[in-house]
Amino acid sequence: MKIGIIGSGNMGRSLGILWAEQGHQVFFGSRDAEKGKATAELAERGTQGGTNNQAAAFADVILWTARNIMPKELLSNPEVLDSKIIIDCNNQDIPEGFAYPAILESLAEKLAKNVPQARVIKAFNTIGQEVFELAPEPLKDYRVSVFVAGDDEQARKTVMGLAEGIGFLAVDSGVLRNARLVEGLGDFIRLIMIGQKQGAYATISINVLPTAQGQRLGGRQASSLK
Ligand SMILES: NC(=O)c1ccc[n+]([C@@H]2O[C@H](COP(=O)([O-])OP(=O)(O)OC[C@H]3O[C@@H](n4cnc5c(N)ncnc54)[C@H](OP(=O)(O)O)[C@@H]3O)[C@@H](O)[C@H]2O)c1
Repeated sequence: MKIGIIGSGNMGRSLGILWAEQGHQVFFGSRDAEKGKATAELAERGTQGGTNNQAAAFADVILWTARNIMPKELLSNPEVLDSKIIIDCNNQDIPEGFAYPAILESLAEKLAKNVPQARVIKAFNTIGQEVFELAPEPLKDYRVSVFVAGDDEQARKTVMGLAEGIGFLAVDSGVLRNARLVEGLGDFIRLIMIGQKQGAYATISINVLPTAQGQRLGGRQASSLK
């Protein structure tokens, strides 16, 4: 797969290297072409580097790491994204005291509105950079969930495959509107991670359990609550 990285910071560099290790063709984009090239040199494995515009033109799948910066602001020709998959891994700025307002529109939905012909997928925003450092081994053993939300089912499957290829357990999280909840989860995991001691990193794993035998608590009764 051809993968373009928009912004060669912590997320872009880490995911780009991991995907290159899996045999994908990766182009590291940056506002500064020299930084993109330097990241490709670090990544090796035939990766390329340059500008964000070049990365967007090169790829079929684009990792968007520029927080709250929209394609129409950042790219000289945003139409190049039409029909491509854009993975939005962004979280909001942390407000003072973690006092988050309710999320009325996710960053991913905002991105999708900016480039309506692209297929935007929310993913990886609940995964700290430190967790990627463990991928794909020994990460696989921990069965860490990556929540994948987006309106295009095929695009969701593609991104789930990219997550599983580097050692995560992908969780199909449905339509893009659900990114509001996934972003809330990202905010929550950051809250938890900030309280961890150095060298320990929180993750979220969804466990699917068997039905209890006997229902000794009376089982789930009918309820009028929605
Ligand atoms: N780090 C984590 O553990 C983590 C985990 C989950 C989600 N996230 C989310 O992922 C996103 C990226 O995080 P990160 O850790 O990779 O941050 P980062 O290391 O600061 O990298 C972000 C990159 O975005 C680009 N950028 C920054 N300001 C920009 C602007 N005004 N215009 C255009 N591009 C700009 C820069 O790339 P160039 O300098 O190459 O242009 C920068 O290196 C954030 O929304 C963050 O909340 C981060």
